[in-house]
Amino acid sequence: MLTSSACADRACRYRLIGKKGEGTFSEVLKAQGIKNGKYVAIKCMKNHFDSLDQVNNLREIQALRRLSPHPGVIKLCEVLYDQPTRRLALVFELMDMNIYELIRGRRQYLAETRIKIYMYQLLKSMDHMHRNGIFHRDIKPENILITDDELKLADFGSCRGIYSKQPYTEYISTRWYRAPECLLTDGFYNYKMDMWGVGCVFFEVLSLYPLFPGTNELDQVQKIHAILGTPPAETLAKLKKHSNSHIDFNFPHKEATPLARLIPHCSAECVDVIVKLLAYDPDDRMSARQAVKHPYFKDLRAAELKEKQAQAQAAAGSEDGISEERVGALKIDSKSLMGSSKTQTQKAREQYRMSKQVPKKPTGLIAGAIAKAGSLSDGPSGLAIGQLGVGLASQNASQSQIDAELSIKSVAKAVSHKTYQSPYSQKPRK
Ligand SMILES: Nc1ncnc2c1ncn2[C@@H]1O[C@H](COP(=O)(O)OP(=O)(O)OP(=O)(O)O)[C@@H](O)[C@H]1O
Ligand SMILES: [Mg+2]
Repeated sequence: MLTSSACADRACRYRLIGKKGEGTFSEVLKAQGIKNGKYVAIKCMKNHFDSLDQVNNLREIQALRRLSPHPGVIKLCEVLYDQPTRRLALVFELMDMNIYELIRGRRQYLAETRIKIYMYQLLKSMDHMHRNGIFHRDIKPENILITDDELKLADFGSCRGIYSKQPYTEYISTRWYRAPECLLTDGFYNYKMDMWGVGCVFFEVLSLYPLFPGTNELDQVQKIHAILGTPPAETLAKLKKHSNSHIDFNFPHKEATPLARLIPHCSAECVDVIVKLLAYDPDDRMSARQAVKHPYFKDLRAAELKEKQAQAQAAAGSEDGISEERVGALKIDSKSLMGSSKTQTQKAREQYRMSKQVPKKPTGLIAGAIAKAGSLSDGPSGLAIGQLGVGLASQNASQSQIDAELSIKSVAKAVSHKTYQSPYSQKPRK
């Protein structure tokens, strides 16, 4: 267990650069570590937290600790808790943008090879998460972050333990990405709901528009039926057992529209993955484990295997003298699989940066606390946390730094100035 004084030594400070994003529960700031110059994303929670126990119980923190480190899971660097103001902020590695920002306002399709690399990474992080007993429950483009060719899953604030008891009565995922079983039952869904979300995101990145943009729950079901067709009576009967009282199951008959017709520029294997992720019945829906093995991703799996072999050879090579060049030649460069889309993506990123220009004058954040958790175990909420320690901010900054710095409380005030136009304002929120 960390003590306050131990943490005070490790206390760190950040210079606030600007706003990076916004969610229902938080505002995310871009900041720079004053000591090490590293850029981070600080997620300032809108809620107040009365005690460390409450912070300890946050599913987001518990899940991140259980799932880290993994290349497909956003890295939580530290937890800042300021007891006097009851504010909590989570410090993450900084990513460039979310998937929604990647496609927003785009007129030209992204190259399928690029999307394939992203989706393969997404499926691998889903597999990692599900194998570790956690499901996300809020898969949507805004919660998937990218930097260049790298993709990471973020925002575990709605996650649950896979083995926790149904029904789940509290909040579930954003409507457009909500699986039929979430819409039609009173909380009788499982980790397969995440795969539905991945199917919707996959389609949206390819087509540049949301597949099922429902305006309310009933419309959401109707939008699904309009494309996938009304499901067989047996599927509906299964769902009806745990039926949601608001929805009448007498759905008018709808014929399915072949998905290939909606994304004619995509390969047949790519469409096949989406079709399998969007199986109406969760029991028939492809799992992440199965999806990563789909023939569509064969070339990426082969590239990955070669890279692993090259690494193993490099390790052995340091003993038996294999040259650097040989190792380099064995490595598969994912960038070469990207094709011509690179320039388009760079342009999109430039546009994104231009639209997010922030004031030059630096402001800052005095960080309050450092949390460190131990091992996790399944508790009543499906997850439980180990230890967490708290420290105080170091106060030996120069006058100019002090002028520029803000406490967590004043950061909260600063971010409440709505100078930033949320990219999600047109999207329905939970
Ligand atoms: N590490 C990061 N690097 C860059 N941007 C980030 C990072 N973390 C979050 N963001 C941005 O901030 C937004 C909100 O973050 P996040 O989804 O974690 O917050 P939330 O309040 O839990 O959101 P939600 O409304 O989905 O529950 C993200 O969509 C993303 O654009
Ligand atoms: Mg989010």
